[in-house]
Amino acid sequence: MSLTRATPGKQINAAVVDEAAADALAVAQASSIKSVYVYEAPVRIWHWINALAIMVLAVTGYFIGSPLPTMPGEASDHFVMGYIRFAHFASGYVLAVGLLGRIYWAVVGNHHAREIFWVPIFQRVYWQLVWDMCKWYAFLSTRPGRFVGHNPLARFAMFFMYLLTTIFMVVTGFALYGEGAQMGSWQERFFGWVIPLMGQSQDVHTWHHLGMWWLIIFIIVHVYAAIREDIMGRSSVVSTMISGHRTFKD
Ligand code: HEM
Ligand code: HEM
Repeated sequence: MSLTRATPGKQINAAVVDEAAADALAVAQASSIKSVYVYEAPVRIWHWINALAIMVLAVTGYFIGSPLPTMPGEASDHFVMGYIRFAHFASGYVLAVGLLGRIYWAVVGNHHAREIFWVPIFQRVYWQLVWDMCKWYAFLSTRPGRFVGHNPLARFAMFFMYLLTTIFMVVTGFALYGEGAQMGSWQERFFGWVIPLMGQSQDVHTWHHLGMWWLIIFIIVHVYAAIREDIMGRSSVVSTMISGHRTFKD
């Protein structure tokens, strides 16, 4: 798991006392290790489908908030906003079902599959590793740590920026959907309570909209960090989310 940094040729800086130690031990002691299988197929497939769904949701959501100029003629001849909303709702379902599947895999998958679902915020050494990563990203240190799973900073962002926001988007999204599906629909019965809780419908629209920009900030930083780490870091990154294997450069 990401919490344990392995320093080849030296002692392990074992941060947490769980399966992480096994990962670090493998990397630190066996110089012959070429790769570690980290992300299982369901995690990888989910990652790319989820990324695609969020792209569609962000583009269509933007146009729902700022609709295109009026088309000439009958709206029903074009149905532009209808298609945009349909694409939004369809990918909303993909996002929500994918999230449920991902939660299931966190339970049955390997320990890396659980990393984005909790952050060891009470462990001092975790914050030390986060700080080390901040310095590395700010070009203040010359040698980054090596992590088998997510690095500690990435893990923080994936939990606090990605996961919590996505749950928020699903809950507010289905609350808004429930308005169209009307009273008695399952969307309204399960999520209808969100609207009075947040004020009224327009408040939910506004927060749902802001959630999109928060996710977009995460995505920009995430993609930058993934590519930067692939080039400058000590292990594979982007290919790891494709093949599942982490390979080490040194
Ligand atoms: C909408 C766009 C995206 C979202 C929301 C997103 C979200 C995530 C999340 C939640 C994870 C954690 C995976 C897990 O442990 O289950 C992750 C990992 C990862 N993502 Fe993305 N991602 C997006 C796009 C991309 C793109 C375009 C790339 C490639 C440049 C990428 C590369 C990676 C890599 C390499 C990892 C694994 C990082 C590591 O090994 O620590 N992602 N992403
Ligand atoms: C990452 C996920 C999502 C993003 C980025 C996103 C983005 C947006 C944005 C920007 C709006 C326009 C808000 C406004 O200004 O009024 C919107 C509206 C809406 N979204 Fe989402 N959304 C997401 C997920 C979902 C989900 C999971 C659902 C559930 C089906 C959903 C259902 C809706 C509905 C019903 C509306 C209102 C449509 C209307 O008033 O015509 N969204 N979304």
